[in-house]
Amino acid sequence: MRLSVIGAGYVGLVSGACFAELGHSVLCIDNNPAKIDAIRSGQMPIYEPGLDALVARNVAAGRLTFATGIDAAISDSAAVFIAVGTPSRFDGRAELTFVHAAVEACAPFLKAGAVVVNKSTVPIGTGDRVEEILATVRPELAVSVASNPEFLREGAAISDFMEPDRIVVGVEDDNARAVAEAIYAPLTAKGAPLLFTRRRTSEMIKYAANSFLATKLGFINEIADLCEHVGADVAEVAVGIGLDSRIGRKFLNAGPGFGGSCFPKDALALLNTANDVGAQMPILERVIHANDLRKRNIGRKILKALGGSVRGATIGVLGLAFKPETDDMREAPSIDIVASLDYWGAAIRAYDPAAMEQAKPKLPASVVYCDDPYACAEGADAIAIVTEWNEFRTLDLARLKAVMRRPVIVDMRNVLSAAEVEAQGFQYDSVGRPGREA
Ligand code: NAD
Ligand code: UDX
Repeated sequence: MRLSVIGAGYVGLVSGACFAELGHSVLCIDNNPAKIDAIRSGQMPIYEPGLDALVARNVAAGRLTFATGIDAAISDSAAVFIAVGTPSRFDGRAELTFVHAAVEACAPFLKAGAVVVNKSTVPIGTGDRVEEILATVRPELAVSVASNPEFLREGAAISDFMEPDRIVVGVEDDNARAVAEAIYAPLTAKGAPLLFTRRRTSEMIKYAANSFLATKLGFINEIADLCEHVGADVAEVAVGIGLDSRIGRKFLNAGPGFGGSCFPKDALALLNTANDVGAQMPILERVIHANDLRKRNIGRKILKALGGSVRGATIGVLGLAFKPETDDMREAPSIDIVASLDYWGAAIRAYDPAAMEQAKPKLPASVVYCDDPYACAEGADAIAIVTEWNEFRTLDLARLKAVMRRPVIVDMRNVLSAAEVEAQGFQYDSVGRPGREA
């Protein structure tokens, strides 16, 4: 099938390349020419494992092409996917300008029977607005509007797309349903569940999924804090409750708070939707508030580990991205942690395997960026592990200790074993696990 994808960001580029891998002929459009130039020359604009090879393979096979403008080239597309950004507005609501602009731009070129599919995360009812725009620009044209939220995680985006837990499509007519069935046939043939709902329900499913996962994280983080007071181990609690299949083990790793481009913005957008219709979501409201507070206060662990002050101390921060296997710094806990340390008078050295360039505009200018964890630890009074990159799980502790001024590790992702680290002579603190001070 011929498909177009508007927006070549995380979602658009990954989806476009994956649709091509499934055998479709895909045109990926982004109005940022620098991005398209980079992709065409084999430089991926994002760090996503396996993406460069996937794109190269499908470009070489002639199934994946790129463009900077929306024009007649989309007119043979059976479906046009909208995958542009929907960032938080100043008031916490989702910014829909990019979605509306993309729909207006593609409307003149759509063929009869084409399906405009919203892959961006959009507030409930956005599909209706898209329909109105299309009816205004092309009153004579019979087109369908569908919702097909994307559930991929950064860092695991390709496997999430190719082996999804489920595909959700919200439709209001049989044409959209048939086109969606055909597009996803290669995945459903391999057993991927394809769930059809009405369009508004599909839009709600995306927000409900992200808000539920955010709530799960908020809850385990709260349990972690309590574990520290009562001498219990949150990692074992996660295993113990996760074995109950009604709870599940996934998404129970306590940490410095959730970040990224989705959870914070989507939870806030859903809360605002509730406020707009006069409904209450007190649980979600607390989750958002508690997570904001957590990210702002978690740096105090380092303060406490160093006896109440970091003024004049050097702190090595390992990991800046909001999670491993990505260079994305959006809403990363490291931003708040580094800001606090800087405010309290610490000198900061930092290392991240992928996100240092993206981090620079978001962190104080005084931060010193290092080439590896050991350079980062040079002269440090404490190391804080903020993102759980795999390479931090196998640190050479003796080498680390040899270059540090004081052997202190604050592990905000629980990647190290307290026993092993303490055996090497470190003072060790983690999240929700009994340490020396528990
Ligand atoms: P992004 O900012 O990485 O990419 C959006 C792209 O759209 C940009 O490259 C931008 O230049 C382009 N664009 C904007 N307007 C355009 C237009 N009129 N024509 C052509 N290109 C245009 O965003 P993203 O992270 O891919 O997110 C896209 C949507 O998917 C959002 O609604 C987001 O909430 C949702 N989502 C994101 C993820 C994720 O992990 N990043 C996961 C699921 C859903
Ligand atoms: C999320 C959703 O998982 C995905 O389905 C959706 O499409 C986009 O938003 P993403 O933001 O890429 O994906 O990352 P995710 O792996 O969900 O992590 C989000 C945040 O939660 C990160 O800050 C991560 O560190 C944190 N997290 C996750 C934890 O603190 N503990 C966990 O156990 C899992």
